[in-house]
Amino acid sequence: MSKDKKVLVVGSGGREHAIVDALSRSQKVSKIWCAPGNAGIGQQAECVDIKVEDVEALAKFAKENEIDLTVVGPEAALAAGIADVFQRENLKIFGPTKKAARIESSKEFAKKIMEKYDIPTGSYRTFTDFNEALDYVKSRPLPAVIKYDGLAAGKGVVVALSYEEAEMALSDMLLDAAFGEGKVIIEEFMEGPEFSFMCVVSGERVYPLAIAQDHKRAYDGDKGPNTGGMGAYSPVPFISEEIRDEALIKVMIPAAKGLVKEGSPFVGVLYGGLILTKQGPKVIEFNARFGDPETEVVLPRLESDIYELFESAVEGWDCETRWNPEACLGVVLASEGYPGSYKKGAEIKGLDLTDGKVYHMGTRLDEDGKVLSAGGRVLMVTGMGKDLQAAHSAAMKNVKAIECPTLFHRTDIGHQAL
Ligand code: GLY
Repeated sequence: MSKDKKVLVVGSGGREHAIVDALSRSQKVSKIWCAPGNAGIGQQAECVDIKVEDVEALAKFAKENEIDLTVVGPEAALAAGIADVFQRENLKIFGPTKKAARIESSKEFAKKIMEKYDIPTGSYRTFTDFNEALDYVKSRPLPAVIKYDGLAAGKGVVVALSYEEAEMALSDMLLDAAFGEGKVIIEEFMEGPEFSFMCVVSGERVYPLAIAQDHKRAYDGDKGPNTGGMGAYSPVPFISEEIRDEALIKVMIPAAKGLVKEGSPFVGVLYGGLILTKQGPKVIEFNARFGDPETEVVLPRLESDIYELFESAVEGWDCETRWNPEACLGVVLASEGYPGSYKKGAEIKGLDLTDGKVYHMGTRLDEDGKVLSAGGRVLMVTGMGKDLQAAHSAAMKNVKAIECPTLFHRTDIGHQAL
């Protein structure tokens, strides 16, 4: 097998660092670039200063550097039409077209697909009028699940515990157009543990990845505001193989087939944000990309070659994956104040003292080569072990090795399974 493939990864977070890290283990990959990357990614790939939305510049770079395959991380690049532009230019890309990515960018489109192809999910109604939406919410029991019908950087879903909270969310979304003019979806509240099921999808082909669970709330005990995710782990012991198979057969495969039938075949990672209800797994949301921070605990467990997996999806070939049975658990170190306002620029020390993988989510190097915080979520510190308890201990030991007074973290990642 020749190790001669050149890969471009698009993005700058922990997810992209984990993708770069997995690609660096490939027997087929000779060189990795990442646009724009971050301080940690720069140790494993050559960072290129192109923004993820500048899809024409990314295509030009891929052409000039004879990139064999581009792998897309963030939804912003998908929404900017990166896959459409690369396909137009005959460049190979792992990531869905704008049309297929509507499964994430339009909650209404996703719900219509689920309705049409009989995929289990909560019942819902769509509203554009504030008063009608509020009357509907008030006619129903709490909590009220309110979703903005579009991309909202992880802030477009509110689970309101009171009618006042629901009114505020509706006012933000419909009267103040906080995320842009649009619609909202009001959905039935579903109860049960949540889990993330990511699958590599190539048209009707679906290659399941290992199951993970994310922790959305900022503080221990699942308290505090919603965030992009404060930690994750994989595998998830309460998702048995039977439940996983049920989710694959009733959710992920019909979604992939449904997108083909709708004339929007999907190539990339289809992320099922699922909930295990008394009636079985149901869909909370679909995303059109790898989850963050789930990717940082799933890819370290992948033993087979990730380039082969990406290549198979792009070419439409069959592919098998192999997984390490060990557990991986990761803890996010975030800037104080996150998910609200926070300061950047704090020096991070001790990164060389950890013995697990530390994925950089929001960092940069200064002129002296010091690593500085550069985002809300800054690092995803992982640990592996024979079981989740061992992985948790390993991750927490690594967290302790890192010195940065302005970062905070949760101590109870994995609590539903430990
Ligand atoms: N961790 C949730 C997401 O990536 O959307």
